[in-house]
Amino acid sequence: MSKTYKISIIKGDGIGPEIIDEAIKVLDKVAEICDFKLVYKEYLMGGIAIDTVGVPLPQETIDGVLDSDACLFGSIGGPKWDNLPRELRAETGLLKFREAMGVYANLRPAVIYDELINASTLKADVIKGVDIMVVRELIGGIYFGQPRGNDGERAYNTMVYTKSEIIRIGKKAFEIAKTRDNRLCSVDKANVLEVSQLWRDTINELSTDYPEVELTHMYVDNAAMQLVRNPKQFDVIVTGNIFGDILSDTASMVVGSIGLLPSASTGDKTAIYEPIHGSAPDITGLGIANPIATIESVAMMLKYSLNQEEAALKIQAAIKKALVEGYRTKDIASFDAKEVLTTEQMGEMIKNNLV
Ligand code: IPM
Ligand code: MG
Repeated sequence: MSKTYKISIIKGDGIGPEIIDEAIKVLDKVAEICDFKLVYKEYLMGGIAIDTVGVPLPQETIDGVLDSDACLFGSIGGPKWDNLPRELRAETGLLKFREAMGVYANLRPAVIYDELINASTLKADVIKGVDIMVVRELIGGIYFGQPRGNDGERAYNTMVYTKSEIIRIGKKAFEIAKTRDNRLCSVDKANVLEVSQLWRDTINELSTDYPEVELTHMYVDNAAMQLVRNPKQFDVIVTGNIFGDILSDTASMVVGSIGLLPSASTGDKTAIYEPIHGSAPDITGLGIANPIATIESVAMMLKYSLNQEEAALKIQAAIKKALVEGYRTKDIASFDAKEVLTTEQMGEMIKNNLV
């Protein structure tokens, strides 16, 4: 009997619905080929949830996702909801959602496709062969620290990490490094921040359990520079919430477009799979969004949550084939593109490439 998985779907706002629809097409086809079944259930979050039920993260969404094997997530937010009080903002819903799922480890791989070397704004010899995994702590640090506030005259946030939070993400990063090139770079601002000093000391202590992994430390300002100067020096990067947010956007431009980068947010409960890009209100409805980051996120879901590694590899091969044959979306179209496809055409193309 073939296996059945429950997938919770959150399309969200902006280009979210457009890219998720393409990812589902691809997922359905690969399930058919690899003989497993999927049951989808859709939930609201973000602006659409504010408009429909008055809050950015309905309890029904939390309960539904907890009851599923994995969550596929599009993107949320947009100018329409930007002026609401903070607790009603779409982004606040996303942060609460991550917290509710306990997804402390956010994995953001940045791998260059040889075919897209010309789509990056960086020189080919700088980026050829880039294969980086950013491991971002996702439910702590300055995003969640208390106290926080803004009285109109004075505003403040608190950057805080406990030793156990650092150990938890650190272990994950060392384990991932062991499955790759055994190199881990921990990024902090230990020359200025106490929280970073504890981070560095703790990662150093942990490293004695992982003698096979070569550990280095880098300040975040230098890391931002090194990512653009010589990205190939990195294998796995581990860092806190806000530094990881910034560095993963930088890493995306190294590989050509933010429309290419998937992510997996994992913890003790249901994992969330989402592209790292936002809801892109400026291109919503134009049919030009790149669905590849979301389709790659589906591949991560198959590998990490559903144990269907073969299906994940098939999806990656199908993406690769589209790129090798010269098909591009607008964001990655360079002079060597054979044809520029719409969001839907790219989804269809990748689906039809599956074997
Ligand atoms: C990301 C996004 C989010 C973040 C926003 C939308 C809250 O930028 O997933 O990187 O800052 O974590
Ligand atoms: Mg971000």
